[in-house]
Amino acid sequence: MVLNTEHYLLIGDCTKATPYLTTLPPIDLIITSPPYFNAPFDYEELFSNYETFLEMIDEITRILFSRLKNGGIAAINIDDMLVKGIKYPIISDTIKIFLQNGYKFSGRIIWRKPEGYIRISRRSGVLLQNPYPMYFYPDNLLENILIFQKGSIKESEKDVVLLQQDIWEMTNVLPKKGRLETNIAAFPEELPKRLMEAFSIEGSLICDPFLGSGTTMKIARDFQRNSIGVEILPELEHIIRKKTGFSDEKLDRYFDKSELKIGIISPSEMKEEKTIGNQKTPISCLTSALNDQMSPKTEYQYHLIILDCRKATDEILNEKLSEVLHKLHPGRILLVYYDYVNNFQSTLQLNQLMDFVMNHGIRLRDKITVQHQAEDQWEIGTNFQSRVLFNHRYFEVLIFQKGKFDYKTKSKDEKIGCTIDKTQYQNEKWFLSIWDFKTELKEVYDQEVTKRLVELFLYNNEILLSNLEKVICPKRIFNYQRFNLE
Ligand SMILES: C[S@@+](CC[C@H](N)C(=O)[O-])C[C@H]1O[C@@H](n2cnc3c(N)ncnc32)[C@H](O)[C@@H]1O
Repeated sequence: MVLNTEHYLLIGDCTKATPYLTTLPPIDLIITSPPYFNAPFDYEELFSNYETFLEMIDEITRILFSRLKNGGIAAINIDDMLVKGIKYPIISDTIKIFLQNGYKFSGRIIWRKPEGYIRISRRSGVLLQNPYPMYFYPDNLLENILIFQKGSIKESEKDVVLLQQDIWEMTNVLPKKGRLETNIAAFPEELPKRLMEAFSIEGSLICDPFLGSGTTMKIARDFQRNSIGVEILPELEHIIRKKTGFSDEKLDRYFDKSELKIGIISPSEMKEEKTIGNQKTPISCLTSALNDQMSPKTEYQYHLIILDCRKATDEILNEKLSEVLHKLHPGRILLVYYDYVNNFQSTLQLNQLMDFVMNHGIRLRDKITVQHQAEDQWEIGTNFQSRVLFNHRYFEVLIFQKGKFDYKTKSKDEKIGCTIDKTQYQNEKWFLSIWDFKTELKEVYDQEVTKRLVELFLYNNEILLSNLEKVICPKRIFNYQRFNLE
């Protein structure tokens, strides 16, 4: 049976859309991808500064909270962004904003793109030219899909029908000539399709406040969901109509044109939004990281610190870490192993960790996602509304750096003594932001990951501090100090 679905397109600024949204039915599922903060190529200089970007996310997050049904899900496709040499911790700041506005953080899916995707400069080539420690910059193939939930649903409403991994391999929209999405950072149809399958049913109302070319609306229509889309650029209306099939009789398989209801959010209708509660716009911890707060009294002892925080709590962080973080050598690396599923249970959220580290003047440089085969079924909380049960198959290594490394400090001999094998680097694909391990044995992938990282970031005769039981790296001679983080 073909359902009669309804689709609403609002042309205007979604942060001013309340007057329209309140006239529409409540929302079951939000699927969206906001414009990434000043992303090179796509959104260069769009926002005057990072705080303005966060304010926009904060505003729309609050508006949609009031329109989302109890138990409803928000799935946000977003990623950290490297702009002019600074990595902006967008994932962690987005999590913070959603939590402050009343949502629960329920899960995190990784979207893995094909290797051919890397279109921005191949950063990983730096190491090929300088095969020594500290020159490692991985090529990023990943984006995140953060899953939040408003409130909870009854146990009886849970309806699990599918099993999936929480790393989704999906091809990005290819830059073909003449494609509809030219100059729009569109996501592939597969993304809203999988999310709708997991978190909605036929007849649900799906909302995308940053509609772009209309991908979410098209998939909603194809799969018998209703939809609301908001797009600020009026010139995209014809693209949205074309993509969704509302302007093309031949594509218009199920409905006639009149079913697309258009509203224009004009400046005269923009009303001041009421603040819900007394939340303030969150300010990112980035500022303190960029200011490099180094204490003059500190002795810098450690050239590399590796913290396995996969079981850490926020109390442990506060109690134990301040001291050691102050002892990281300027210019050097802190590696944090983080697993959001384990950390859910132990209450350490990514945004707490990120704030904590960055408030010590240590900024985010990169991250590696480690994909393994250990099965861990993901069903966060008892109230998580999903038709899918996820197998959790990854953890992350967050790569932080304290200020800038002075590449001249190392003599030629010191460098030559620590040469990294380029063939191995290329064959084993160390240069990617995702490292694959075909094993389910934690000891095996943990050890290999640590070995690689020590090789990539530590020179001979330097000092490594870690809470890991054992650190083996046959290619480095180092002084290992261990401390207990429990
Ligand atoms: C990353 S794109 C979304 C692409 C979309 N997922 C697709 O598949 O085509 C973000 C879109 O949000 C729009 N946008 C930016 N700020 C907005 C705002 N305040 N309100 C509504 N739309 C906005 C941009 O014009 C852009 O089209």
